[in-house]
Amino acid sequence: MRWWRDAVFYQVYVRSFSDSDGDGVGDLEGIRSRLGYLELLGVDALWLTPFYRSPMTDHGYDVADPRDVDPVFGDLAAFDALVEDAHRHGIRVTVDLVPNHSSSEHEWFRAALESPAGSPERARYHFKPGRGPDGAEPPNNWRSVFGGPAWTRVPDGEWYLHLFAAEQPDLNWTNPEVWADLEKTLRFWCDRGVDGFRIDVAHGMSKPDGLPDHTEPDAALLAHSDDDPRFDHEGVHDVHRMIRAVLDHYPGRMAVGEVWVSDADRFARYVRPDELHLGFNFRLLQTAFDAAEVREAIEHSMEAVAGVGAHPTWTLSNHDVSRPVSRYGGGAPGLARARAMALVVLALPGVVYLYNGEELGLPDAELPEWALQDPVWERSGRTERGRDACRVPVPWEGDGPGFGFTTGEPWLPMPDDWSALTVATQIEDTTSTLSFFRRALELRAEHAVSAGSGVEWYGAPPGCLAFRRSGSTLVCALNTSDAPVPLPPGDVVLTSGPLEDDGRLPPNTAAWLT
Ligand code: GLC
Repeated sequence: MRWWRDAVFYQVYVRSFSDSDGDGVGDLEGIRSRLGYLELLGVDALWLTPFYRSPMTDHGYDVADPRDVDPVFGDLAAFDALVEDAHRHGIRVTVDLVPNHSSSEHEWFRAALESPAGSPERARYHFKPGRGPDGAEPPNNWRSVFGGPAWTRVPDGEWYLHLFAAEQPDLNWTNPEVWADLEKTLRFWCDRGVDGFRIDVAHGMSKPDGLPDHTEPDAALLAHSDDDPRFDHEGVHDVHRMIRAVLDHYPGRMAVGEVWVSDADRFARYVRPDELHLGFNFRLLQTAFDAAEVREAIEHSMEAVAGVGAHPTWTLSNHDVSRPVSRYGGGAPGLARARAMALVVLALPGVVYLYNGEELGLPDAELPEWALQDPVWERSGRTERGRDACRVPVPWEGDGPGFGFTTGEPWLPMPDDWSALTVATQIEDTTSTLSFFRRALELRAEHAVSAGSGVEWYGAPPGCLAFRRSGSTLVCALNTSDAPVPLPPGDVVLTSGPLEDDGRLPPNTAAWLT
């Protein structure tokens, strides 16, 4: 029942996918109404970003009740209907879990604020006295990933820890109540029929004893290195063992971790046989469009998991990073490279995660400052624009402002020129990015059946790479150089863009051959 081994997952950023009630925010019913599209696209499973009760400071990653649906997204009945319908369409449904922190509106945190220092209510979070005279300095020098200090002081003088926004207090994972509650949440959604989970900040949760200072407190926002004391502590593996033990009671359920750890050996620890089934390897997403670097990232990612018998998990895009089209240079070359890289990841062994809109070739949207909503914008003192540009709603049809996403005003403005990128425009056009993704997913599914878990590399001209998944007849060739190159022998079954008239592979292009 390891259905996920070769699966293509599709990340639905619930706020931005499809709005059924005209309030400008996507919802569960909206997703349900698009299941036909997702089936046509050919994805195996969905990852839904958090739709739980939330004040939406971090658009749902600040969870006030992890076992209920926020009214803006629907209700539990809408969720049940979505799962049932998705299964009828042959699509599995996985949901996000946010164990590192809760919302400051969670009943536990409210109780903590109303209780004195040293109380059991405060022990579910990290409350500490400050340093310096009168404890007016935070307990250590940690910064929030979103900018500003990682500590906020409460009226009685104690400080609480929040690695993200102040409205996202970190839970204390040495407290058994915190464990019991996550277990309850896992069971709650498993019992409702979900097929798996994406674990948010899966390298978080556990904190180092004594909360030592960070030697590089001014590190970049939304990023961190492996020696950062805020993340990747031994204790987190016990949390993942607990998650795995619960899931093992529910046949066919899986968990994938958001693990921002670059060292291969440290990363592999998260996907040991008694921990998470899968871990996003973000190395490829951080790699430039350069064949040598791409190959190195692939080899690194495969090695990382092979040692513990796990499957690699590829992704080029999600709601936290610049969209591939923009990251690879924007415009026509950016789109060409994004399509080429899609052929690379879809030819690899393992799991692939696509992010909604990736199949349409959406770029980052240029947003006016008034529209920015990511907490990073305010917390950085308006120096970092944050992640809104990759979160703009999906254009389904027609013209703005709502492009069929909503009959109302979309929660982030959608660019006027996106009418050329809508699903309706692309679906009939055989040369569109959407048609390209549909064909690629179809071919991948056919070829994955017989394929193994290794990769065989072929010799390739400078700036190019070529490989075959072991056991598969499908060869993938990528050209990141400035000049056309001859293709390897074989019949071309799909290319990411037109070939040269003489049949050579142009720059910024990939091809599949058999
Ligand atoms: C993860 C999510 C991100 C969120 C953060 C805090 O990195 O992907 O969107 O802001 O966790 O929950």
